Amino acid sequence: MIEKILVTGSSGQIGSELVLALRNIYGTDNVIASDKCAHTGIKLADSGPFEQLDVTDRKHMAEIVDKYNVNAIVHLAAILSAVGEKKPMLAWDVNINGMINVFEIARERKMERILVPSSIAAFGPSTPIINTPQETILRPTTMYGITKVTGELLGDYYVAKFGLDIRGLRYPGIISNETLPGGGTTDYAVAIYYDAIKYGKYECFLKEDTMLPMMYMPDCLKATLDLFQADFNKLKHHSDFNVGAFSVNPKMMAESIRKFIPSFEITYKPDFRQEIADSWPNSIDDTAAREEWNWSPSYDLDTMTEDMLKVIGEKHKKGLI
Ligand code: NAD
Ligand code: SER
Repeated sequence: MIEKILVTGSSGQIGSELVLALRNIYGTDNVIASDKCAHTGIKLADSGPFEQLDVTDRKHMAEIVDKYNVNAIVHLAAILSAVGEKKPMLAWDVNINGMINVFEIARERKMERILVPSSIAAFGPSTPIINTPQETILRPTTMYGITKVTGELLGDYYVAKFGLDIRGLRYPGIISNETLPGGGTTDYAVAIYYDAIKYGKYECFLKEDTMLPMMYMPDCLKATLDLFQADFNKLKHHSDFNVGAFSVNPKMMAESIRKFIPSFEITYKPDFRQEIADSWPNSIDDTAAREEWNWSPSYDLDTMTEDMLKVIGEKHKKGLI
């Protein structure tokens, strides 16, 4: 039975919302947030335990695990694609050594469950880009992608070799309005909404026709919690579930925003992130997730746009952004 959950990288885009969702289910004191950064985020601040933890420090991670009798870990700490291409050795160190520390600490203590996200970055330019299959070519050309494929393989190895319960899902680009993304290639899909509200225009670092799979945060939380709570005996896959919601390019996103802000303008100035985006799929086949743990998203582009503009618009009116 899951009693105490440690969340690493909890101050990031996903962690800052997932911790609260986990606390609603498992109880505030049973979910220990942790991050290398000292700040916990406004909503996390008063909501439960927080530890400053660098995941590359195995000794400190073990001390925190033992202090709280942690028996499950949601491992979110990572360096994302764009920062990873600027600092590949940092991406290797945090993503690989942080992950092996989590797996080894879990193995030594025979933990109940581990969840580690993978990414569409596990795919590469030789992967089929339309409706990318669950089982396919995994030859990424970014350091971030290389660490994600390694994580999937390591996760499945620990399941097969040591009998650990490890789960993981290949998130598409995640779009949210609580915490800004931490340096990925899909970050434009968040920035565009903030700039639409603040300035009525946006300069995009990807080309207008760059199609990528995306997902709104409520669906990301649902997917993560559904997989985390799924019956292990019904899972045929473990560390690498494809999950999809919708696919979009910057032009389509601008058109969606114009349905609510007709004067919105977009310009394009592609940078180094274009090459990363071009190596990723256009759309995802998530049949395995649908069959094995009933995955089903709720938001499409326009329903997400309406909600994003409402929430960010309210923040702007209050002077919070
Ligand atoms: P993020 O960059 O917003 O947050 C990552 C957090 O990790 C940050 O708060 C950062 O301070 C922390 N961190 C970095 N180095 C650390 C270290 N050495 N020790 C401890 N903490 C450290 O990332 P996110 O978007 O919340 O991503 C969470 C997970 O989901 C990652 O594994 C990421 O690869 C994966 N993912 C995210 C997306 C997305 O679009 N957000 C898409 C695919 C996969
Ligand atoms: N959103 C992530 C990134 O762009 C995908 O893993 O890096």
